[in-house]
Amino acid sequence: MKMTVIGAGNVGATTAERIAYSELAHEVVLLDIAEGVPQGKGLDMFEAMPVLASDTRVRGTNNYEDTANSNFVIITAGLARKPGMSRDDLLAANAKIVGSCAEQAFKYSPNAFYIVVSNPLDVMTHVVLQKTGLPRNRVLGMAGVLDTARYRTFIAMELNVSVEDIQAFVLGGHGDSMVPLPRYTTVAGVPISELMPQDRIDSIVLRARNGGIEIVNFLKTGSAYYAPSASAVQMVECIVKDKRRILPCAVALNGEYGLNNVVVGVPVKVGKNGIEEIFEITLTPDEQAALNASADDVKANIAKLATMDY
Ligand code: NAI
Ligand code: 2OP
Repeated sequence: MKMTVIGAGNVGATTAERIAYSELAHEVVLLDIAEGVPQGKGLDMFEAMPVLASDTRVRGTNNYEDTANSNFVIITAGLARKPGMSRDDLLAANAKIVGSCAEQAFKYSPNAFYIVVSNPLDVMTHVVLQKTGLPRNRVLGMAGVLDTARYRTFIAMELNVSVEDIQAFVLGGHGDSMVPLPRYTTVAGVPISELMPQDRIDSIVLRARNGGIEIVNFLKTGSAYYAPSASAVQMVECIVKDKRRILPCAVALNGEYGLNNVVVGVPVKVGKNGIEEIFEITLTPDEQAALNASADDVKANIAKLATMDY
């Protein structure tokens, strides 16, 4: 198993590190345009392997030839948010970066699974689908796992219970209009509505929606990376181990949930073929309207791509 992580910044380096430590791959290639940075981080990570008892070989490069025949390509290259910026503010710059990364990686690894992390996430997943021409089961955007992890964390904090016991879903685009679903949120099987009043649920939903900017406002020079890298690696692990877990992932929809020609987060079964199946859960009219509005936001950004050179 060979995995390439494109972008050796905060998310890329922590993703490569997690893959290496968990021995999910025998080889991890970390690629960046910055000369020396992926080589230095890659060597430093490799030198940690004897201590951590992992036989994964890690190396950094600026050259796509070194990524040849990867089974996975994880794209984290691009600009990250700073205070005052929305994910959408990254659109033009990151479309160019992600488009060129996808094209070059695909030349050398046409059979890989592509996991997209760069923002704005849903649109960048669309760009990777477009540039590679791969079928939708091989191109997955990471956002729902992260947004759901934040939502689960806040519920666990509120109830002072294990994070493991919180089951939940956040659907929609990775933006301000994402759709946490309290109706499908349970704590050890008990509906959340039985465990806390509606106003507390509402405030947790709001905090989850603003989870990304909460970290940006603390860090000031960039955005979150520990939870994002853990989320991306969980998706990789589900494919490698054919776990068939149900995870919210950004995928191209062909009529599911009444949506077409848009990439947006929905629950999918993730296994050895990537997306094994899209789960269509029943939504109330309000939930469906919220998902439609979120998909409309993504569509508006996809439409902007037509005016861009990327
Ligand atoms: P960062 O600034 O730490 O790293 C980005 C890296 O990309 C830098 O090392 C830069 O040199 C590299 N890069 C830029 N252009 C490149 C190119 N053409 N080819 C190869 N490498 C290139 O940023 P960070 O924190 O790692 O975030 C990366 C991206 O992931 C951002 O767009 C951020 O918004 C997004 N993100 C998405 C999340 C999600 O839930 N989907 C969560 C967290 C971050
Ligand atoms: C996040 O949600 C910046 O999209 C990134 O942390």
